[in-house]
Amino acid sequence: MLGFTGKSFLKLLDFTPDEINSLIGLAAKLKADKKAGTPHRLCEGKNVALIFEKTSTRTRCAFEVAASDLGMTAVYLDPSGSQIGKKESIADTARALGRMFDGIEYRGYGQEIVEDLAKYAGVPVWNGLTNEYHPTQILADFLTVKERFGTLEGIKFVYMGDARYNMGNSLMVGCTKMGMHFVACAPEKYFPNAELVAECKKIAEKTGAVLEFESDPVKATNGAHVIYTDVWVSMGEPDSVWKERIADLTPYRVTKTLMENAGENCVFMHCLPAFHDLKTKIGREVYDKYGIDCMEVTDEVFESDASIVFDGAGNRVHPVTSVVAATLAD
Ligand code: CP
Ligand code: NVA
Repeated sequence: MLGFTGKSFLKLLDFTPDEINSLIGLAAKLKADKKAGTPHRLCEGKNVALIFEKTSTRTRCAFEVAASDLGMTAVYLDPSGSQIGKKESIADTARALGRMFDGIEYRGYGQEIVEDLAKYAGVPVWNGLTNEYHPTQILADFLTVKERFGTLEGIKFVYMGDARYNMGNSLMVGCTKMGMHFVACAPEKYFPNAELVAECKKIAEKTGAVLEFESDPVKATNGAHVIYTDVWVSMGEPDSVWKERIADLTPYRVTKTLMENAGENCVFMHCLPAFHDLKTKIGREVYDKYGIDCMEVTDEVFESDASIVFDGAGNRVHPVTSVVAATLAD
């Protein structure tokens, strides 16, 4: 379809800017088709496995809706209900599932797991989030930015918070590939690792991307089109890191002052779930222990007109449909 049939989708580093653009373009078309009620069922009769070693709301639903819209059956394997990792290695799981399914989604821990799965499965594997990368999220984010600003070109994209993890890494790679202006704003120890930064800087020489690493939130957000953040403690991290994260990252919370500093056209984005109030179990526990009623973003910004977080969440399904169709359809 886009020339990706049989290929896996493991990280944006594996794709050229043109390929990423075409996946976003197909996502936009599939979104329009869906809105118009035009069925496409591009993968009729195929079957996919959805492996989730970590929990999910959006990514799981995106894959299930995509599978249904594409005319496929999806089998969900939850974080505790399979043999994976406990009684069976990834290589064995891959070889078994690869003979039953036409494609496999994986959400879990190290990137090497999803890479291994792809190596042994013999069918396309899609990364639904690892510790290092969350590539389908970035396609949805860029679709959302394009809908808002009409383009990715010239967009100043500021990521606030723990920039060493899946979201910071993937956004840096994505912005680099698309020739954007990316700023990681955090204390230095939360900047993406030096090896990945060096790789991105090399790519930036070709794409014209600007990469900045800035610890001053006012400098970083000045003139930003997008301020993006994520949770301070990611899935799979131990509870023992909370205290230090709160101390280190509180100055990097997205506030009304920072949004105003960016300018009136700036939008707020977040991959979600977000800790912006006390309506969650963890949010409440953190409040009881540390006395803060929000974490990475204030409720005021989260609920403001500048916040396009739910447009972004709704957009998760179309890039997933696009990636699955592009890699499975003939
Ligand atoms: N943004 C995202 O991946 O959300 P879920 O964890 O709900 O899938
Ligand atoms: N960094 C977060 C992203 C969730 C979509 C996590 O890994 O938990």
